[in-house]
Amino acid sequence: MENTKFRNRLAGVMITRRIITLVLVTLLAGCVLASAADNPEQKEPMTNKLVIHADQGKVTINRNIYGHFSEHLGRCIYGGFWVGKDSPIPNTRGIRNDIVKALRQIKIPVLRWPGGCFADEYHWKDGVGPPEKRPTMINTHWGGVTENNHFGTHEFLDLCEQLDCEPYICGNVGSGTTLEMQQWVEYITFDGKSPMADWRRENGRQEPWKVRYWGVGNENWGCGGRMRPEYYADLYRRFATYLRNFGGNRLYKIACGPGGANYEWTEVLMREGGRQMNGLAPHYYCGSGRRSRSATRFGEEDWFAQLERALRIDEIITKHAAIMDKYDPRKRVAMIVDEWGAWHRVEPGTNPGFLYQQNSLRDALVAGLTLNIFNQHCDRVKMANIAQTVNVLQAMILTEGDKMILTPTYHVFEMYKIHHDATLLPADLQCNDYKFGNEQIPALNASASKDKSGKIHISLCNLDPKSSAELVCELHGAVAKEVSGRVLTAEEMTAHNTFDSPQAVRPADFSDVELNGNILTATLPAKSVVVLEVE
Ligand code: AHR
Repeated sequence: MENTKFRNRLAGVMITRRIITLVLVTLLAGCVLASAADNPEQKEPMTNKLVIHADQGKVTINRNIYGHFSEHLGRCIYGGFWVGKDSPIPNTRGIRNDIVKALRQIKIPVLRWPGGCFADEYHWKDGVGPPEKRPTMINTHWGGVTENNHFGTHEFLDLCEQLDCEPYICGNVGSGTTLEMQQWVEYITFDGKSPMADWRRENGRQEPWKVRYWGVGNENWGCGGRMRPEYYADLYRRFATYLRNFGGNRLYKIACGPGGANYEWTEVLMREGGRQMNGLAPHYYCGSGRRSRSATRFGEEDWFAQLERALRIDEIITKHAAIMDKYDPRKRVAMIVDEWGAWHRVEPGTNPGFLYQQNSLRDALVAGLTLNIFNQHCDRVKMANIAQTVNVLQAMILTEGDKMILTPTYHVFEMYKIHHDATLLPADLQCNDYKFGNEQIPALNASASKDKSGKIHISLCNLDPKSSAELVCELHGAVAKEVSGRVLTAEEMTAHNTFDSPQAVRPADFSDVELNGNILTATLPAKSVVVLEVE
């Protein structure tokens, strides 16, 4: 009922918008589009204007920007992906079928594993062979629980095959050895006869796997060993030396990057190890609200604070990229943002070490704007992995027994999959600010791409929770015939899906858009993510 009322209200806005559209198109035709920025006296909001250079795209948006991360943490693996072969929950060799199906729908391109902080305590040899014989360990970072190692290398690579995605394995530098990591690569990828390859065959896998992406440690400035950048750079070079290419498997070696705005780390790593690496992996978590850290009980102050912090990733990427440009002007080394997302207080009554949080429309906006920013930086950012896939932090999927729900963040990944491997289109956005108290951030955020069939997609976020935004979008260098769209929004900022109400936040068709020649006009609802398709 609430939903119907809400949708009717959206439809009502359309009539007003059509009138505004006529006026705007007339103004555009006369090239007199006025901007409030030109006239400081003017109090009226200026027209939000997006110019897309549809014939100037040069760089591909690597689909791995839409990558994911799964750690042995809380219920991400156990009780998430992995239920075990004997579970009554439908599974294939222990891996939950409903999760695989949902992730295939968003075309998950790459999955990082086994951590996170867990990676620098993980000893892979404990996780192969007959499960009942595998030793246990204590997961000291995450709740101090006993890890039974039933989900190990074979299970992870089976999961990636079921998902049809690329595996990305993070090796242990903090408490591991070069030999251990070297042998892991040999175990997985060597096609000849060797102690590790023979052991793999004994454990049931004849053919080697192809695993391209290898991380050399995780957050080695923190949980991965509290190292100085100089020390880690030396270690990185040493470890990377012994990671070998076998058969047709070509390794792509990723060094631990900085936390947030630690530019010194990037400077030292690029200077001392840039030539030996394929990627450098910064992490950025945008925290939670200011007053409340709850994922679902927060006010506008928290909404604003969260989105403001999420937007900072643009500056962080820009500044790290400038340092990388200094040492690698040809952009050979990729920026791999292999952990990012919102980090709220855990849900009441859950283990604080399990990082189980709900996911609201605010998280969807965090995802939408961050992915737009990654797209805009796709000349340097070649992979990103949201933390984490199931039941942990800003998850795609939450489970409770045999039930599963998709979060608003999942829906953003589903709506944005049209950008995978498409060509980024340069775009200029002029927009009003969203003001809260004495602070402001740009109300809109966008990116655009052209896919292989020539369709143009524009993803837009309206961060303002109270005001819809009229947008005029000019498509330069394209012939546009048709436009359609989808929207993700809800009546409340805190709207989220629950096991009782799993569809409270879900995408709907968006018809509040018109095409006149090469000019699109749209009304973006308050607090919404919209994706337009132009043919
Ligand atoms: O994603 C949760 C944790 O956050 C990871 O284990 C660690 O790398 C980061 O600090």
